[in-house]
Amino acid sequence: MPPRWRKDLERILITERQLARRVRALSRAIQRDFAGREMVVVSLLNGTVMFLADLIRRLSLPLRLDFIGVSSYGAGAASGELVFTKELRLSVRGRDVLLVDDILDTGKTLARVRAKLQALGPRRLRTCVLLNKGARRVEKIEADYVGFEIPDFFVVGYGLDFAERYRNLPFVGVLRPQVYHRAGPDLDGVGGKPPAGLAESQCPSPRRLRPGPVSSA
Ligand code: IMP
Ligand code: MG
Repeated sequence: MPPRWRKDLERILITERQLARRVRALSRAIQRDFAGREMVVVSLLNGTVMFLADLIRRLSLPLRLDFIGVSSYGAGAASGELVFTKELRLSVRGRDVLLVDDILDTGKTLARVRAKLQALGPRRLRTCVLLNKGARRVEKIEADYVGFEIPDFFVVGYGLDFAERYRNLPFVGVLRPQVYHRAGPDLDGVGGKPPAGLAESQCPSPRRLRPGPVSSA
């Protein structure tokens, strides 16, 4: 890990190489399933920026792109309170839609946004997430395309943030608990309460990470 980040991060969970390979594989699967019609990609702000850019540049398909802004209200996703900060502008009625998010955690965000899109009458609606933290699921929802299954750590990088920081890291790393314990309640824009997490010894090395499932459409 670059020395600059050692103070804040416990370790790298997913390397740049692993991300690149896995995202290419997801693009291939999506391309196969969505071939033949123009698709609409709807991506959730802000955590998907890097993942989305890497994912769609590999899609040799006609597509239109739009964003929905959501943030969990106040100090925790625990409240389940979601605020829409940007609404969809494209019409998805009768369209093939791919909804993209950074991480599926409790599932509240994806469940809520998926229901909202479903109500707009798409022909087909599929979901794609870079990371899946199955251990914390509250809602009954799984994504159709999953990059990696990860254990219950608070992770940052490759678009994922803590208090809007660390999004620029080119890898996914485990945030040191001291960082979010130190941060206190007065942070700006903290979305999602970091969980207690597992002991450091339980954290798998990047070699042992499992890729997530990819459903065939
Ligand atoms: P959910 O609604 O609990 O599924 O949470 C989804 C949102 O919480 C994601 O879009 C992220 O913004 C945020 N989140 C959940 N876990 C993490 C994490 O480990 N790191 C950074 N953000 C996270
Ligand atoms: Mg987020």
